Amino acid sequence: MFPIYHFKIKNMNVGIIGSGTMGSGIAQVAATSGCAVKLYDTNQIALDKSKLALEKVLTRLVVKGRIDASEKENIQSNISYVNSLKSLGDSDLTIEAIVENLEIKKKLFSELESYVSDDCIIASNTSSLSIASIAAALQKPERCIGIHFFNPAPLMKLVEVIPAIQTKNEIADKTVQIISDWKKVVAVAKDTPGFIVNRVARPFYGEALRIYEEGLADFVTIDQSLKTLGGFRMGPFELMDFIGNDINYTVTETVFAAFYFDPRYKPAFTQKRFAEAGYLGRKSGKGYYDYDENGKKITSGLDQSHPDEALTKQIFNRVLVMLINEAADALFLNIASADDIDNAMTKGVNYPKGLLAWADEKGIDWCVEKMDALYSEYHEDRYRCSPLLRKMNKLGKRFKS
Ligand code: NAI
Repeated sequence: MFPIYHFKIKNMNVGIIGSGTMGSGIAQVAATSGCAVKLYDTNQIALDKSKLALEKVLTRLVVKGRIDASEKENIQSNISYVNSLKSLGDSDLTIEAIVENLEIKKKLFSELESYVSDDCIIASNTSSLSIASIAAALQKPERCIGIHFFNPAPLMKLVEVIPAIQTKNEIADKTVQIISDWKKVVAVAKDTPGFIVNRVARPFYGEALRIYEEGLADFVTIDQSLKTLGGFRMGPFELMDFIGNDINYTVTETVFAAFYFDPRYKPAFTQKRFAEAGYLGRKSGKGYYDYDENGKKITSGLDQSHPDEALTKQIFNRVLVMLINEAADALFLNIASADDIDNAMTKGVNYPKGLLAWADEKGIDWCVEKMDALYSEYHEDRYRCSPLLRKMNKLGKRFKS
């Protein structure tokens, strides 16, 4: 249970900083929940674009019958577009979604703190910087927290809430309450690289790339294995093309460096070359697949042969067990609770099942056997089995009782 706070979400003043992709989406979420939102950007064009984009999105929702005209009007009137940071002075909560640069964020946070009241929560939507490093820019770092939305913010159910080591428990509890009231699923994560989703999802891409690099199968076969046997909506290569090979590669490289070059997170040359060549995926018309001018995958010419069953099973099992191992290790290292780890993957990246629930279904003994088989084949640290899986196997335990 969370403590009862004496504030009403509907009357809350929320300041959003940065009116790009994320800031605009977060503003829509907060305004839809009845908050009075001020959306600030240094760039007037970005503000104008954001306003126009919201008009389009809401009109579509009215046409689809999801909201009525008066709701549209309410949401729009809940947002004001401002071009001075000082205007955010009356905020109860601010969420920053500007360029991913620590020095720029620190400068902004320090200025912002001089305008807002002492009990204003100051949050960042950063994907890759530590919350502790951002909080350190504040006089009162205990009011700083990470609130990590997923793109597109209005559609994705998951929000990771990341208290820094400086954050007061009361601020973390209050933040969880606010974000839950915005009808989001909250997963609380420790302030470590990639938080939950961007850490646990790494093998989906990395192991698929490794399987390809070993020459075991082509992109199409690997994607088909994960989709047909695993029920994933997109295969790893389709998803990398969708995210953009430049962005996905950079996240991998950042996580790899942040984990002191743990081989489990090692990036793949294949993806690096694709990014260097400008084969970014959907947005550039070419990635692992080709796309038409509307971003639709061109399927003609793709290998439609049916690879043998044993191979597709081997590919699926290998990627799945590496994902499970990563999820188990996140639990082992107290990055988040078992429920939050599973919710993060199903609600943040639409996995068909939570990975820990999947581990139970496959059997913990199966997971340990598969990891040990990979390790004995390759003798690479990348394939080390999580100590938690090994311990649970010995004790005959499951993740979910
Ligand atoms: P974006 O490039 O679409 O928008 C950034 C906006 O911030 C721009 O409109 C820019 O004019 C404004 N800006 C830059 N410096 C500013 C300053 N000093 N003061 C006020 N406004 C400033 O970026 P996007 O994609 O929305 O990302 C924003 C943040 O959210 C980054 O920290 C990113 O890591 C994080 N994030 C991004 C996700 C994504 O899928 N794009 C997902 C989750 C987090």
